[in-house]
Amino acid sequence: MSAEDSKKRAALEALTWLDDARVIGIGTGSTVNHFIDALKSIKGRLDGAVSSSEASAQRLKAIGIPVLDLNAAGELSVYVDGADEANHRLQLIKGGGGALTREKIVAAVSKQFICIVDDSKLVNVLGHFPLPVEVIPMARSYVARELVKLGGRPDWRSGFTTDNGNHILDVHGLTIPDPPALEAQINQITGVVSVGLFARRPADVLLVGHADRVEKIT
Ligand code: A5P
Repeated sequence: MSAEDSKKRAALEALTWLDDARVIGIGTGSTVNHFIDALKSIKGRLDGAVSSSEASAQRLKAIGIPVLDLNAAGELSVYVDGADEANHRLQLIKGGGGALTREKIVAAVSKQFICIVDDSKLVNVLGHFPLPVEVIPMARSYVARELVKLGGRPDWRSGFTTDNGNHILDVHGLTIPDPPALEAQINQITGVVSVGLFARRPADVLLVGHADRVEKIT
């Protein structure tokens, strides 16, 4: 069994969590791609989706699901997205694909955030995966120096621009015992657009794909 099979298993399980939602939020990444592919089978039930990235928007349109503007859609009942790391408190590191800011926005307006991961993503303490921080380009070096003061080793994701026209710093070397506190601290640094810690608004349901089953953590 590969990690890809486990991702797909979690993605298929998420289909059963949509209830009667007609507009859903959709995240970004390889796990969510499995979910989008699975949506084909129920697309007649949906009026559309709000996407956290251009990449997912293209994939949704390709299977005939209308992509809606969040400002017009209003509050969403359910948001499905992956993560780069998750702990048992449903706090997450996200942003490996660089879509963290839009993902945070869609998570913020959604009643239920269903996170889908394979079992390699489940950890006791967040921080092994480098923490993505989206920054305004002119503030990149300043923010990097501030992140060093917090004990991290920021690395500029060179050559990458977010859908919002910004840069990403991937912060290595952090051990994060108190994710909400670090999230607030990094959010306070001038020039930070958002940090890929989803702890103040964690997931509501974590579906963990294993080789032979899906574990549900709430
Ligand atoms: C995108 O910016 C990320 O937050 C993704 O949710 C995360 O990287 C998970 O991606 P995979 O499903 O490809 O592992």
